[in-house]
Amino acid sequence: MTAEVQQSPVRRLAAQRPRFAHPAEAEFAAFLDFYRIAWEYEPRSFPLRWQDGRIVEQFTPDFYLPEQDFYVELTTMKQSLVTRKHRKVRRLRELYPHVNIVLLYRKDYHEILSRFGYGSVDITSLRPDQIERVLLSPAEIQRRVAELGQQISADYAGESLVLVGVLKGITFFLADLARAITRPLAIDYLQLSRDLREGVAIRKDLDLDIRGKHVLLVEDIVNTGLTLDFIMRVLREREPASLEVCALLDKAERRLVPVPVKYVGFTLPNEFVVGYGLDYRELYRNLPFICVLKREVYEANGNGHLVGGTGQEAAAEAAESSLIATRVEVGSG
Ligand code: IMP
Repeated sequence: MTAEVQQSPVRRLAAQRPRFAHPAEAEFAAFLDFYRIAWEYEPRSFPLRWQDGRIVEQFTPDFYLPEQDFYVELTTMKQSLVTRKHRKVRRLRELYPHVNIVLLYRKDYHEILSRFGYGSVDITSLRPDQIERVLLSPAEIQRRVAELGQQISADYAGESLVLVGVLKGITFFLADLARAITRPLAIDYLQLSRDLREGVAIRKDLDLDIRGKHVLLVEDIVNTGLTLDFIMRVLREREPASLEVCALLDKAERRLVPVPVKYVGFTLPNEFVVGYGLDYRELYRNLPFICVLKREVYEANGNGHLVGGTGQEAAAEAAESSLIATRVEVGSG
């Protein structure tokens, strides 16, 4: 199994952008694209009234959001239009009770985010305008984790395995992956400490003896490969029956040492990402999506001395170097 570059269905739709009837629709489509929520524009018309067997009135909702199976009709504050739309929506609900539709005002766009798993944006110290780019939506992550679980279950048919997670970035990925694997399994954790002089060392070792066991090492992200290379060497010495690696994210272009990653969730560009377990200075792990933050967020949280480079690259470099410093302090991953 090789790494897959996941092209979002959202991006493909955006490339074939329809001609919108109203600027508010183009704005809503851009909003959905930003959060990587899949959409279709006016895909279906619902007949509302007939005369002599002919349709004399129908309703075409502006958007359909397939991931949550509901239609959205955008509306303005103009009272005459709102009343007419309300009447049509009521009639549609009477005739097609299984169809979900919401009438949405511009000020309420953000409210629908919680339906797509974005609820916790509010409960962290992160404002939506501090997000540079959403790279993976909750729905995309969950779909891919389910696929990985299926692949792993098929590959280990008739066997049991030990999942070894590297703390702490692995928290959510390991929990979701373990539940997507249908083989008997044990879970164990490793935690590393990094010291600029002494290098990487094991801070918390496994509880289980892995000799003769099928071990699947689960990592959040592989970057240079140095961390993984170190762990693989340690675990191989313990003579497991087999040792494979599953990484949620792979920044393949940053690799310094070759490491055999059998299962890869997503291949990422060289950008510093947070969310779904990944942190910047222990923050943002609880975001249910994976994103790149605006440079000012790192500057506000960091030590403030960004040096060299420009834009995202500098932010990423600063973030990574201060991340190492953070690790020395708190010994987390
Ligand atoms: P490597 O040793 O360079 O492969 O780095 C792997 C470790 O660095 C991962 O286990 C993460 O803890 C951390 N890391 C690398 N890139 C990122 C990122 O974009 N966001 C958060 N943590 C990262």
